[in-house]
Amino acid sequence: MSQGSQGLKARLFRVQPVDQAADFANNPDGLKRSITFMGLLMLSVGSIVGTGIFVILGEAVPIAGPAVVLSFVLAGITCAFSALSYAELASTIPVSGSSYSYTYATMGELVAWVCGWCLMLMYGVSVAAVAVGWSQYITEFLHLIGIDLTGPLMNAPDSGGIINLPAIIVVGLALILLTRGASESTKVNTILVIVKIAILLMFCVIAFTAFNAGNFEPFMPMGIAGVTGAAGLVFFSFIGFDTAATAGAEAKNPKRDLPRAIIAALIVVTLLYVLVVVAAIGAQPWQAFEGTGGEAALSKILADIVPSAWPSIVLSVGAVISIFSVVLAVMYGQTRILFAMSKDGLLPSVFRKVTPKRQIPLMNTIIVAVIIMLLAGFFPLGPLASATSIGTLFVFGLVNVGVIVLRKKRPDLNRGFTVPGFPVVPALGILTCAILFFRMDVETWIVFAVWMVIGFAVYFAYGFRRSKLADAPDTKTPTEAGKSIPK
Ligand code: ALA
Repeated sequence: MSQGSQGLKARLFRVQPVDQAADFANNPDGLKRSITFMGLLMLSVGSIVGTGIFVILGEAVPIAGPAVVLSFVLAGITCAFSALSYAELASTIPVSGSSYSYTYATMGELVAWVCGWCLMLMYGVSVAAVAVGWSQYITEFLHLIGIDLTGPLMNAPDSGGIINLPAIIVVGLALILLTRGASESTKVNTILVIVKIAILLMFCVIAFTAFNAGNFEPFMPMGIAGVTGAAGLVFFSFIGFDTAATAGAEAKNPKRDLPRAIIAALIVVTLLYVLVVVAAIGAQPWQAFEGTGGEAALSKILADIVPSAWPSIVLSVGAVISIFSVVLAVMYGQTRILFAMSKDGLLPSVFRKVTPKRQIPLMNTIIVAVIIMLLAGFFPLGPLASATSIGTLFVFGLVNVGVIVLRKKRPDLNRGFTVPGFPVVPALGILTCAILFFRMDVETWIVFAVWMVIGFAVYFAYGFRRSKLADAPDTKTPTEAGKSIPK
């Protein structure tokens, strides 16, 4: 069927056949299948534990009191609904594009494009946010050892600077590592993840030596509203558990390992966060967190317990390493999503060109790095983090819808993992994402709306015409596709 003869509805809602997506998992595009379960787990953990846990306590504890522990559990549970949906879709359609590819196979091209466009907030903009956080920590660390970075090139715009050079440098470092290939970068990532878990455990061990159970009373001074308010804030620190899903085409055994890695990453991180929070509040009365802000929240506690400056210095180094690994893993994810979108014809071919020697999308990685450098160099952390969160909530909502749609259309598909409690669990996933989405501030909604308008313009100017499905004789709407996609 020619493009011209397809109706508008058929074109907007053409779905990528699931078998075609799965066939891509056989890597006709030359990506190397080198990542094991451990590598996938580390990719997700590496993406989650970053800026959040080091900065958020200073802001979240005053909102919730000691019950901030419950806020972390609540945010973890919110993510768990979506993580289960991710796990099912990743085990059914194990490709590079993560939620973008899942929506393409379930709800059609337009929704997939919207999802991919939001993923640029969730991944690309998030790397910029995290790089700005890294810049603050490296400045703090150098300050602790007597070197002060000052001047207009050393600060984010909200701190009086013009260009945030350290933030640009960290993205450049990640670019160098990523151009060495997936296998190399996952090895480095694994080492970085182990280091940051060790640093946070070191914090817990030292903090528990000063543990005072009395600090937990009263437990919920701001009531349940305080708990939910802080949960919205700590949500940012859980973003990233799905990064393993972007490596579907490079995983050795994606159907088995992807769901396990996504769920295991969320469990590991939730336990780690709860431990850190209990240790922190046990060591320091919750009122003392007010006004600490930034990484000082954890390092200040160590400074109060141990007279030497060394634990604080080690913690700052840990923060610098943690955040670097988030930059690395999330930037990797962004390149693979663009790769998948380009492969489908929705973005120019430059994003899917793989270098024969290293088997990586080199130009794609360079373009992504340059755009992130511009964002990180010229924007402050707050708006970047809010844009990340709103894009993430939208994507999580779509993934939960995708599970319901695919179960209805294709109950016969071979699923490596199925969401328990269907359809209640994905429905709760949609509900919790919607609640947090509508709690975002007005400025963030406006940024999101503008981003969406630009996205639609790009789609109709480019992808709508260039889509690989445009000339496909078997292009189907989601309803038709449900009847025709083979197993
Ligand atoms: N979860 C990531 C962090 O906390 C975004 O840095």
